[in-house]
Amino acid sequence: MRYIAPSILSADFARLGEEIDMLNRSEAEWIHVDVMDGVFVPNISFGFPIMEVLQRYARKPLDVHLMITHPEKYVERFADAGAFSIGFHLEAVDDPLPILEMIRAKGVRTCLTINPDIAVERLYPYLDKVDMVLLMSVFAGFGGQRFIESTYAKLRAVRAEIERRHLSTLVEIDGGVGASNASELFAAGADVLVAGSAVFHAADPAEAIKSLKCQ
Ligand code: DX5
Ligand code: ZN
Repeated sequence: MRYIAPSILSADFARLGEEIDMLNRSEAEWIHVDVMDGVFVPNISFGFPIMEVLQRYARKPLDVHLMITHPEKYVERFADAGAFSIGFHLEAVDDPLPILEMIRAKGVRTCLTINPDIAVERLYPYLDKVDMVLLMSVFAGFGGQRFIESTYAKLRAVRAEIERRHLSTLVEIDGGVGASNASELFAAGADVLVAGSAVFHAADPAEAIKSLKCQ
């Protein structure tokens, strides 16, 4: 599939209601929600107050990306706050399995994520235990970074492994995605593309979403 998940991190928070309205009316399939704790990543974004606004006003599934240590402490609250999917970083935890189970027990879709310096093979034991894997194509922490080209090799490798095992696990790419690489990423096997600056810093964000989808 070819889904676009605009990252609310790049929205204008002074006009959050309008930004959500724009997403509701746009062709975006999901809304990506970047949560940072200032410990796992060197930046702090937002947490439950913004999540609650999204829960009330957003009409698209909320794809929550936790860039935090101890995700097990918070996954249930994010589920209660309306998450459709919850992802956390494999490298942030000792054992992802009990946390995946906590998420699944809340009826929420699961996602495991890795930063660019983590070998893609580390995801393989979990491919049949998650709904989605997210390959970071920049180091988690900030919007507006430059896409790391070696992501393509990881994307092709994980896509091939998913096919080989006849799994239906989705692959999401996050960071530095825009008009210059979206079609190539879909062609290389991505199902979902996260886009922050490419959407919210565009003159016409709804049009930018559309063009990312059908290039
Ligand atoms: C980075 C976040 C990304 C980021 C994407 O830590 O996980 O979702 O907001 O922003 P762009 O598209 O600007 O790279
Ligand atoms: Zn993200």
